[in-house]
Amino acid sequence: MTDVTLTRDDMGFISKLVYEHAGIVIREHKEAMTRGRLARRVKALGLHSVAEYCAYLKTPQAADEIPELINAVTTNHTSFFRERHHFDHLRKDVLPRLVQERSGRRGRIRIWCSAASSGEEPYSIAAVSRDVLGNRSDVDFKILATDIDTDILAKAEAAIYSPDQFDRLPSDVKPLLKLENSGRGEARISDDLRRMIAFKRLNLIERWPMSGPFDVIFCRNVFIYFDTQTKASILDRFVTLLAPGGFLYLGHSESLPQPHPQLRLIGRTIYERLP
Ligand SMILES: C[S@@+](CC[C@H](N)C(=O)[O-])C[C@H]1O[C@@H](n2cnc3c(N)ncnc32)[C@H](O)[C@@H]1O
Repeated sequence: MTDVTLTRDDMGFISKLVYEHAGIVIREHKEAMTRGRLARRVKALGLHSVAEYCAYLKTPQAADEIPELINAVTTNHTSFFRERHHFDHLRKDVLPRLVQERSGRRGRIRIWCSAASSGEEPYSIAAVSRDVLGNRSDVDFKILATDIDTDILAKAEAAIYSPDQFDRLPSDVKPLLKLENSGRGEARISDDLRRMIAFKRLNLIERWPMSGPFDVIFCRNVFIYFDTQTKASILDRFVTLLAPGGFLYLGHSESLPQPHPQLRLIGRTIYERLP
């Protein structure tokens, strides 16, 4: 049996480690959930208690364990076409204009999905983009999908989902996902959509290797885990990478920590980068 007792000191130690490495603030009411998640790592390492796990994290061998700890504590909840209004805005107001502007001279369109979780969000982006782009080859179109959690990124790249994830989807968007039967009672997103996306690990609080510009950035439902200072610094970096006239989508309960001089709110959690 795993002993999941977590002393105040151990909780403080874990919280500090997670904040330093991922910017995630573990709030007090999340302690029970954290204990459960740590128990997974305790078991995987053949240890007997969370206390032993904390002791292990203090040894030099623990460097390899930090990414596993981060994978364990991240919340990956997501779904296809979650917060539908963003995909409608992208499909009707953003992409047709970008395609018209950039087509004919192999212009680039770049979208970054910055907390992509298990892939439902970038595949929804790919689905509406393919719908607007059709088969045209005169636009260089790419989606970059990143997340800190390597386990969840592997799931996203595999693109295999259980059919009940699609059952509740509105009938106008479901066909856009171009599902293929994977033969195991599961459905796989088609090659066509998968090829539009590059999945990479990226920690939002570390250095970003990309130089941009991006026409659209999705950063939804991850700011809730960060403190004000972390949010503000990530926002500044988004603005630097966004093309003038580009769009930033935040999650439903998220807003800017304070008004940003270069971002204008133009819809429900939709911001436009000013020229
Ligand atoms: C709740 S999910 C949101 C998924 C999707 N954006 C959506 O709105 O449906 C939050 C995601 O943020 C990721 N995340 C947490 N901290 C991160 C960090 N420091 N850098 C990058 N991604 C992070 C988690 O791994 C998780 O997949």
